[in-house]
Amino acid sequence: MIGNATANGRVSITGIGSHAPEGVMTNAELALIVDTSDEWIVERTGIRERRVAAPEEALSDLALPAAKAALEQAELDPTTLDMLVVATVTPDMAFPSTGAILADQLGAADAAAYDLSAGCTGFVYALAQAHGMVSSGLADNALVVGGDVLSRIVDWEDRSTCVLFGDGTGAVVLERVSEGGFLGFELGADGSGGSQLYMPAGGSRMPATAESVAGRQHYAKMNGREVFKFATRVLVESARKVLDECDVPVEDVDVYVPHQANVRIIDHARRKLGIPEERTVVNVDRFGNTSSGSIPLALGDAKTDGRLAPGEMVLMTGMGAGLTWGSALIEWTANGKGG
Ligand code: ACO
Repeated sequence: MIGNATANGRVSITGIGSHAPEGVMTNAELALIVDTSDEWIVERTGIRERRVAAPEEALSDLALPAAKAALEQAELDPTTLDMLVVATVTPDMAFPSTGAILADQLGAADAAAYDLSAGCTGFVYALAQAHGMVSSGLADNALVVGGDVLSRIVDWEDRSTCVLFGDGTGAVVLERVSEGGFLGFELGADGSGGSQLYMPAGGSRMPATAESVAGRQHYAKMNGREVFKFATRVLVESARKVLDECDVPVEDVDVYVPHQANVRIIDHARRKLGIPEERTVVNVDRFGNTSSGSIPLALGDAKTDGRLAPGEMVLMTGMGAGLTWGSALIEWTANGKGG
């Protein structure tokens, strides 16, 4: 799917918040659990540490502070929220949705609330969906949350995956604005690659049994080399497609926010696209890959660093399980209320 996002008026991000759990796990600590080293992890991935949720923390606990911060920045009373979507592969539980749980915690009694599953691309998919609802007039505003607690589905005995992932969340508010805002989206999926990155058990195909637990089927499985090849290809292709659709030359991209999976993947994509290092947001060294939390956490960092000034052209591209990918192009705006 590809489309220009301005046909029905302008919609923008008017508030942003992010949150990661307190617990930090360094590469040295990981090396005490599996046969790995700080040197190997840094050289192959650029990751130095990741955040890990406390045993009592579930996704909604991590998402709540991010959601509150985004609403506060947008100066939006939660009781006036029309829509809340949580992009994740690690909801609090299969049902009810974490969206509904979060809406209740926020006091957003009038909001349609649900979860969306599109792997690490979930946040970009959710942005596009919320944009459609707000620009069509079906909703006046939307809260989009991206977050995951991957530490709960990572196999801590598998060194080829457990070193890559971490926990974190981010949230944004979308509202109509008079200028700027989202310019376009490009989204795609290739289900034939589903087995490259998946969690076999826990659904209707393989419900939880003593055998599925003993066989470690409730953990994420990944073919790292294949996902690496896929990621380097789609990050570039998807970004180029959305830039072409919106008639924006790559030189005009001020802030590039790619999915934070691996520094080598990010470097490859930005070089191929021709985006300088200083315009690329990288925080994978501190958070690892937080799946749906990755792009909003990076956006939150960029906002804190003062890199997201009104008028800046921001390009986000995600990719992940599905296999899925997606890009969003936005001209950053103030919150519309002077913020
Ligand atoms: N520590 C030490 N050695 C390791 C580790 C580790 N943590 N993990 C694997 N190795 C070993 C392997 O066993 C292999 O050893 P061998 O040659 O004796 O067989 C060797 O290191 C090389 O393994 P490769 O898989 O070839 O290593 P590569 O350079 O490809 O890096 C990596 C592996 C980092 C996983 C890479 O393939 C990658 O980044 N893939 C993409 C992963 C990703 O981003 N997934 C998520 C994207 S989508 C989403 O976000 C959900």
